[in-house]
Amino acid sequence: MNSDSKLSREEQKKKSKSKMGFTFSTMTLNLLLLIAMVATNILSLYHLSTTLQSPKSPNPHTLIPDQLLRQLHTIRATINHLTRLQPSDTKSSIPSDLLLYSHLSPIASSCHHHPDLLHKYMTYTPFSLCPSDSDLAESLILRGCHPLPRRRCFSKTPKKLSISLPQNPFPNSLPDSSVIWDRYSCKSFDCLNRQNPNLGFEPSREASKFNTYSSELDLPVQQLLQIAKTAKSVLRLGLDVGGGTGSFAAAMKLRNVTVVTTTMNVAAPYSETVALRGLVPLHVPLQQRLPIFDGVVDIVRCGRAVNRWIPVTMMEFLLFDVDRVLRGGGFLWLDHFFSKGVDLEKVYAPLIGKLGYKKVKWATGNKTDAGGVKNGELYLTALLQKPLSR
Ligand SMILES: *[C@@H]1O[C@H](CO)[C@@H](O)[C@H](O)[C@H]1NC(C)=O
Ligand SMILES: *[C@@H]1O[C@H](CO)[C@@H](O)[C@H](O)[C@H]1NC(C)=O
Repeated sequence: MNSDSKLSREEQKKKSKSKMGFTFSTMTLNLLLLIAMVATNILSLYHLSTTLQSPKSPNPHTLIPDQLLRQLHTIRATINHLTRLQPSDTKSSIPSDLLLYSHLSPIASSCHHHPDLLHKYMTYTPFSLCPSDSDLAESLILRGCHPLPRRRCFSKTPKKLSISLPQNPFPNSLPDSSVIWDRYSCKSFDCLNRQNPNLGFEPSREASKFNTYSSELDLPVQQLLQIAKTAKSVLRLGLDVGGGTGSFAAAMKLRNVTVVTTTMNVAAPYSETVALRGLVPLHVPLQQRLPIFDGVVDIVRCGRAVNRWIPVTMMEFLLFDVDRVLRGGGFLWLDHFFSKGVDLEKVYAPLIGKLGYKKVKWATGNKTDAGGVKNGELYLTALLQKPLSR
């Protein structure tokens, strides 16, 4: 055996050792990252569960071993609870146009939970027209699988182009030809309006919606702007969460305030309608982090879509994300939020209180429709102002 080959063999050994060392250290790093991720999730879950379950949560700085045991127990209970929260749990009494599938998922796992839908969605021919399946995309987004992974096909556009689109956000009619109706039972806006005139697909009917005051639960935009002006907190930019066809944004547009609307296309072309009114639709479900940077909007309105049907944990996430995007001195308007009377007092008022906002308006009233009477529900309309600085 000559010394050269011996040397090279030794070198090789060394090399492979260092390679192993390298692989080992990346593995350790990955493992550490994984543990850190899981731990962060578990800690936040724990925090959520304690703050939600006991009003007097223990100070985390003074933990003792006994409490650690309790913590572990709580974490396990929470995880069990969360894994039981599946889409099939949703009751049939929940309207289909609202949030149905909200549940907590560890980071980026939502898509994995729905392999069947995902598989179907990802079955397409690259570089050609995408399948006509926007309802499938909608289903995935509502289940938290978002942003969507399909990226190399062309989405379909309507066959006919509307020559002129209205400048006025409250037009007398909307062009049917600007919508792909394939997936809806209705094939025109007229049909949608005949089915239910209250969904907001007849913009001219919506004009009075944010200008009337019939009870304490109403807050006409005139009054809203006046309140803001008096508070020396001018409104220029806003976000309407779950804003349907965009009527709040439309009313604000007439007052030169720019409002974007988050909306979903469940059972009707909400996004297209917002766009046809010359407003900005954001295709965002309630459980998603708002695609807006911290502290940049003056007002956030939460309308009909935000109410007791949303799991409390989700509601807390939503409120804190709203807080994130609001600037200091900005306003949160809960417009006709409804819940059972006892829950408003015991659950929601304390939850809203966590934000530490100033109550500019706080009005409650009986929800007098059949469902409201049956469930003992109350409406809350609240205008809350974020502290100027934290
Ligand atoms: C909105 O802006 C336009 C153009 O600058 C102006 O003519 C109009 O008076 C403004 N409307 C309101 C309500 O301020
Ligand atoms: C609201 O409902 C409760 C009972 O459900 C009733 O006692 C109360 O008088 C009602 N309030 C109004 C203003 O109608």
